[in-house]
Amino acid sequence: MASNSAVPNDETLFEKVVNLSKRRGFVFQSADIYGGFRSTYDYGPIGVLLLRNVKEQWWRTMVQMRHDVVGLDASILSPPSVWEASGHLANFSDPLVDCRECGARHRQDKLDNPEVCPSCEKEGTLTEARQFNLMFKTHAGPMVESAAEVYLRPETAQGMFINFANVLNTSRKKPPFGIAQIGKSFRNEITPGNFVFRTREFEQMEMEFFVPPDESDQWYRHWCEARMAWYRELGMPDDRLRLREHEADELSHYSSATADVEFLFPWGWDELEGIANRSDFDLNQHAEHSGARLEYHDPGSGERYVPHVIEPAAGATRTAMAFLMAAYDEEQVNDDVRTVLRLDPRLAPYKVAVLPLSKKAELIEPSTEVLGLLQPHWMCDYDQTQAIGRRYRRQDEIGTPFCVTIDFDTLDDQAVTVRERDSMSQQRVPISDLVDHLSTRLGA
Ligand code: GAP
Repeated sequence: MASNSAVPNDETLFEKVVNLSKRRGFVFQSADIYGGFRSTYDYGPIGVLLLRNVKEQWWRTMVQMRHDVVGLDASILSPPSVWEASGHLANFSDPLVDCRECGARHRQDKLDNPEVCPSCEKEGTLTEARQFNLMFKTHAGPMVESAAEVYLRPETAQGMFINFANVLNTSRKKPPFGIAQIGKSFRNEITPGNFVFRTREFEQMEMEFFVPPDESDQWYRHWCEARMAWYRELGMPDDRLRLREHEADELSHYSSATADVEFLFPWGWDELEGIANRSDFDLNQHAEHSGARLEYHDPGSGERYVPHVIEPAAGATRTAMAFLMAAYDEEQVNDDVRTVLRLDPRLAPYKVAVLPLSKKAELIEPSTEVLGLLQPHWMCDYDQTQAIGRRYRRQDEIGTPFCVTIDFDTLDDQAVTVRERDSMSQQRVPISDLVDHLSTRLGA
């Protein structure tokens, strides 16, 4: 991502990114034609590509590029026993207060002043806090009365803990090793908001790294550094990214250390990912509740131990939004303001757009051929409407790194114009060299 001239905390940045998301098909309000279902969102044709790319980059770094991490795709529905053992049934709740005056609901722990309702600004109108469990409950089976209660997972992590023995027995891994998963999680948030930042249905990218107990500090530091490097390497600017270590009073009783990767959103610093040293808490809990033996037995030394766990837990949907905000830029070009998403090419929804200069039939055929040449390599857009300048701007707005224009000279010289998003520079390239040329410039 090149330098971003939009002021990070510019209040309008949030609105601009939300508007762009709706206008260009990144994100739509869910059930839009029925008036919208509050705080749930659908990812449109461009957004689904960005989100896939964020997840693919995470998977590549966390699984593909490591010999010590394997993947998993666990079920979303699970029985109460899992959540009893994990502590979610008893503890996964937020303190909820109602305003007697205006009826607004708030999370007490997020109020600036616990005596004042932030909606109507009246003092002394808030009720006592009630604990509100954030898990969604439903029923498995046709008859609600006799059906089993099940929960939609509020995090993907428990899938990794309850499959620890399965993976250990089948993968030939031994600590230190990790199990990684990307998938949907559900939380009945009291105060969803800030667009896709906090929603009731979202995607997580989590990894549980099982280590010998005496190596947990060293691995915790390793993962803090590795996760920060991932964001930086994909173009998050240094001045909008930080690692914040939790204070002792923020830590859960079983965690010896936790840090948040935070991004400077338009409303201030907020969490993208948590990295926690979870000790042997989760494996012990599930061993105790299930009766299963969740430990590692070293066949060489005969040693048995319950591994400790380092967990980097990130939000995919939240991270995609942060990359959008970091990439959003506006620059003056002659009398015009150009909006450009300076996304790293690996995250860009389309890598290349193929644009015939005119809709005339003689240009459509070679354009379709060029498109066919590029599609096996990259996600490509194709657009033959409007003036070419406006089409370039449309591609800039969704972050497409390269536009390939087929013009009337192409019919003679078998070459096309390659236009680069950030510099807007143009270069004539023979069609026969096009795939190599773009591969070099895209770095893939
Ligand atoms: N297993 C640990 C765990 O789930 P978490 O901090 O509650 O930790 C991890 O969640 C990440 O998931 C967060 O850093 C955030 O990016 C994302 N996340 C959590 N709740 C979310 C929500 N309601 N909407 C969108 N993303 C959320």
